[in-house]
Amino acid sequence: MPSTVFITGCSSGIGAAAVRHFAAQGWNVAATLRDPAKAHFEPGAGRVEAFALDVTGAASVDAAVAQAQQRFGRIDVLINNAGYGLFGPFETATPELVRRQFATNVEGVFAVTRAVLPGMRMQGSGVVINIASLSGLVAMPLYSLYAASKYAVVGFSESLSHELAPLGIRVKVFAPGAVDTDFSGRSLARTWEGDGGPYAPAIASVQAVFAANRAGGGAASTPEALARALYGAATDGSAQVRYVVGADAEEVLRARQQLGDEALLAGLRQRFGLAA
Ligand SMILES: NC(=O)c1ccc[n+]([C@@H]2O[C@H](COP(=O)([O-])OP(=O)(O)OC[C@H]3O[C@@H](n4cnc5c(N)ncnc54)[C@H](OP(=O)(O)O)[C@@H]3O)[C@@H](O)[C@H]2O)c1
Repeated sequence: MPSTVFITGCSSGIGAAAVRHFAAQGWNVAATLRDPAKAHFEPGAGRVEAFALDVTGAASVDAAVAQAQQRFGRIDVLINNAGYGLFGPFETATPELVRRQFATNVEGVFAVTRAVLPGMRMQGSGVVINIASLSGLVAMPLYSLYAASKYAVVGFSESLSHELAPLGIRVKVFAPGAVDTDFSGRSLARTWEGDGGPYAPAIASVQAVFAANRAGGGAASTPEALARALYGAATDGSAQVRYVVGADAEEVLRARQQLGDEALLAGLRQRFGLAA
């Protein structure tokens, strides 16, 4: 019987690439999206079925998990991929913006994981893969709330990996560097209006560095490379918890190892034009 993967946020980017890759390997794929009309993936060798799922809605989460279990009999692998970025000064972020960032990136991961766990526990096996970010290991400027949400996902995943190991369920967390999706176009919300007032120089400086990085282009991973890495993690049978993906992410973490935390942070402030 083919294995089944349940993936959140499949309308585009990494989620859509993962749907295609797992399907091509002959897996059943429960491809979940807020709006199933946005499903752009072709059914592959496996069976792909789209289910409506907004990770911020408890009823939506429970319904999608129940429908996928009914359709495919079981869920072997969960990939918590849905998420978006909140960019800008912390001071200008309204409580509502903060709440939405955490409702999606953090509580959404909790909710879908909670809904899938009883089935995996009864099977005595399963793999939960949470997509955090390099921003969950090293925080970049003007991403305080996105970084806080992704640090939360890393901490959650690492602790959960201990508690679920005796039940035969492995928990893994991905920390990709830049991935060549439309994340910074379609999935980036801003905390500020106008020019950002006292933060205008910092915003301009940080945006210029990110724009130059994107224009340089070379270091970003493709969504297909992420999908291959996800498939590898789902099937490697290992107890590995952290998966750092991308040459850029590896470089930053190597720099931290060589320089130490404080020198790395000072170097980042320098690079983004924020040194006092
Ligand atoms: N691209 C990068 O450089 C990068 C780097 C590190 C980590 N990541 C992480 O990778 C994940 C996927 O991002 P991506 O790069 O593939 O960007 P993307 O193409 O913009 O995908 C984001 C996905 O999340 C979905 N989503 C957002 N809010 C949702 C909600 N409440 N319920 C269900 N789905 C929701 C979006 O669906 P809609 O179409 O409904 O909006 C979309 O399918 C995110 O968690 C992101 O933080 C990305």
